[in-house]
Amino acid sequence: MPARIAGTGRYLPAKVLTNDELAQRVATSDEWIRTRTGIHQRHIAAANEQTSDLAVHAAREAIAAASMEPDDIDLIVVATATPDMIFPSTAAIVQDKLGIRHGGAAFDIAAVCSGFVYALSIAESMVSSGGARNALVIGAETYSRILDWSDRGTCVLFGDGAGAAVLVPAAEPGILTSHLHADGSHRHILCTPGTIQHGAIVGTPFVHMDGAAVFKFAVKVMADVAVETLAAAKLTPADVDWVIPHQANIRIMDATMKKLHLPEERLVVTVDRHGNTSAASIPMALDIAIRDGRIRRGQHVLLIGVGGGFTWGSVLIRW
Ligand code: ACO
Repeated sequence: MPARIAGTGRYLPAKVLTNDELAQRVATSDEWIRTRTGIHQRHIAAANEQTSDLAVHAAREAIAAASMEPDDIDLIVVATATPDMIFPSTAAIVQDKLGIRHGGAAFDIAAVCSGFVYALSIAESMVSSGGARNALVIGAETYSRILDWSDRGTCVLFGDGAGAAVLVPAAEPGILTSHLHADGSHRHILCTPGTIQHGAIVGTPFVHMDGAAVFKFAVKVMADVAVETLAAAKLTPADVDWVIPHQANIRIMDATMKKLHLPEERLVVTVDRHGNTSAASIPMALDIAIRDGRIRRGQHVLLIGVGGGFTWGSVLIRW
């Protein structure tokens, strides 16, 4: 049976960090950050907020929007690169915090900024095959914890947040098709290489990025996978009503739209207010565009993810 999204939600921590505030910490400026990235501000989790806490807030909103109770959820997939701990999974912690006790499956996906697209695609397979009934798919991140706040090349780019969607079986397909890819040979251009060994951190625990290489790679694969996914549904870019790409940088998004010959009016943008929230960026942007009425029944919505790994993928939805 096909699957469709029955409800979405999001959560942003209360604290807002502006570019001007960042310029007091590192040698940068509001003008530099805006013109190079499109980012005006980002949200930062409070000291007592874990990734799972952000996820639970977004999940509760999505479950309510689907007119369900937490107990109706029998699969939880959390996409995150900033889990609460090495194990158990953040999904298991979310399940507990939602008070779900019936033993439904819960696991995390590690595909960095493509994580939500990966998670949605996997959950869709499980719902449509009957392996799960009502799936809660979450992208949640606390990147503020893995940034070197003295490195102006990375600390200005990211923010914290969470977005969620509830996926249910449906007579008509909501999710039409999805395509996932990875090429691990590019893993060094965007990574957080540190690990814990014998009680000590080995390697840097902070985000490392070759910005120019990321930029080039992201634009190429985002446009390619969009065309691949649309072709599988016998559609062309012109049939797409809304493009919701990973919100890394406005210039990457604009370049992708140009490659697809799509007008910028069809692009959903949140990077200005949220920064790059990795796996959370797509579900938060989706939730915003649904709640403000931009996305309407019957429209085609194309989600495009790209991130460390390198990973990339897209999901086509008929809303
Ligand atoms: N403020 C001021 N100056 C800065 C800053 C900053 N925050 N960061 C870097 N600079 C300086 C550099 O040191 C460099 O100075 P130099 O010429 O004296 O050496 C100068 O600005 C130019 O740096 P470039 O790297 O050439 O600037 P560029 O125009 O390429 O923009 C950026 C950098 C924004 C990182 C760009 O490469 C980019 O957008 N890359 C994509 C990376 C991205 O979006 N990553 C997000 C994670 S990836 C993902 O989510 C898939």
